[in-house]
Amino acid sequence: MRDIKFDFNNMLSFNIGEKHGVTADELQQISETVTTARQHLRKLIDTALNRTNIGLEWANLPFQDKKDIQEIQFLGEQIACDYKNVLFLGIGGSYLGLKAAQDALCPPYYNEFSSLRKGTPRIYFEGNNLDPETINAVLANLKPSETFVVVISKSGETTETKVALETVERWLKQGVGEKYGRQILAITDPESGALRSKVNQAQAANPLSFRSLPLIKGVGGRYSELNMGLLHLAIIGVKIEEVLAGAKAMAEKCAAESIYENPAYMYAVLQHILYKNKNKSIAVTMPFSEGLKATADWYAQLLAESLGKKYEREISVTAQGFENWDHNKQQVVNVGRTPVACRGTNDLHSIQQNNVEGENNKTVTFIRVENFSSDVKLPPGDNFLSGKSYSELIKLAQEATEWSLVKEQRPNCTIIIPEVSPYSWGELIFFFEMATAFEGELLNVNAYDQPGVEGYKKYMYYKLDKPGISKDIAREIEKYPIWKKDEFIF
Ligand code: PA5
Repeated sequence: MRDIKFDFNNMLSFNIGEKHGVTADELQQISETVTTARQHLRKLIDTALNRTNIGLEWANLPFQDKKDIQEIQFLGEQIACDYKNVLFLGIGGSYLGLKAAQDALCPPYYNEFSSLRKGTPRIYFEGNNLDPETINAVLANLKPSETFVVVISKSGETTETKVALETVERWLKQGVGEKYGRQILAITDPESGALRSKVNQAQAANPLSFRSLPLIKGVGGRYSELNMGLLHLAIIGVKIEEVLAGAKAMAEKCAAESIYENPAYMYAVLQHILYKNKNKSIAVTMPFSEGLKATADWYAQLLAESLGKKYEREISVTAQGFENWDHNKQQVVNVGRTPVACRGTNDLHSIQQNNVEGENNKTVTFIRVENFSSDVKLPPGDNFLSGKSYSELIKLAQEATEWSLVKEQRPNCTIIIPEVSPYSWGELIFFFEMATAFEGELLNVNAYDQPGVEGYKKYMYYKLDKPGISKDIAREIEKYPIWKKDEFIF
């Protein structure tokens, strides 16, 4: 198997100058911080209780039990045999990893053409928005008897997923009758949450109803593709073991102590230096591949929710040597690079203008695919494009985009993947997860929580009179009203 590679030439000062590139001195200056961060992250990953308490169990997902994986593979293949459509309900980490895998590992236009699906079902994603039009459209056009539903929610409490499930349940019940629960499988926390209670109740009444798969304790939503996303992989006909083998290879690489042998750590260190010392606060991810755009979207969530934080982390250690993390509320830091997901060559005619000539406040991460699964050669002739192939042109366009950035002293780096296979994709997502975890260490923030997401939820629950809303929340909402003056709306 050929592994993915990380090319960081264009992040360095010898290519883009000292004002915007990382210098040897800067790498030297940060080396002690890097050693401390590396030792700390290693200690967390090596301690089971720290992993589960803090949310680092994702680091162990590439090493999952083969028997469990085979069972999920078998279940997914069974569902794929029995149903023409599978509808996945979930949002955030319970959706973006699946969508990334779908677009990367299934052929383009997968849903449209049976010749491309090769017997696997059409896949639909809902519950990732409160837009009534998409769910209406999908339910108006799918047949309940031909549709299996997988609902994914770690907490089991997320509004978008909850309302989607209720809507879909009603639709299924109307379509197939009282036994509709046989067509639903839930992936949720093994013990807690409203979805788990629902599963337990339905199972008690009928063991064939609301089957479920547990989420592994200590794996947060956005780090959970290699857990909650596995059934989806099996349904679309991907061999889960191949994805895990790629992730495992990357995990082993990322155990290296030296940043010169550890691609994820090097990525994080360079981004961190450029962010802190040279104001590169925008993180543009630009795969030159249509199928990897959704992986860039997935990384956008990973980066934004993990590192975009108001407070630094405050660590306390128990008498037994385990860590507890809190927020240091003494000081607001408001840190985190802002992700932008785009793709080449499409966005060369859009966002790239700003990348090259706008504020020099960003880094661009390219993902370059060396071999495409199919190609098109242009007819022979006498113009400069004659006889060229699409894959040749897209790779040249990527190289040309690097050049245009380097010429303007814009930092950029390239993740080179030999081909978009389950193995390489497994490597790629683990690379980004490890890089994000390490960047979190360098920033000293909790990369596994997302307290900022609670704001909108609190407001909605308050307005919807959700039972049990605390008086503190009500007071907070009343204390910070939004003023809507008519003269400022026209
Ligand atoms: O990364 C996260 O934890 C979040 O993005 C969650 O995945 C998202 O909010 C959905 O949560 P849940 O799976 O509990 O419905």
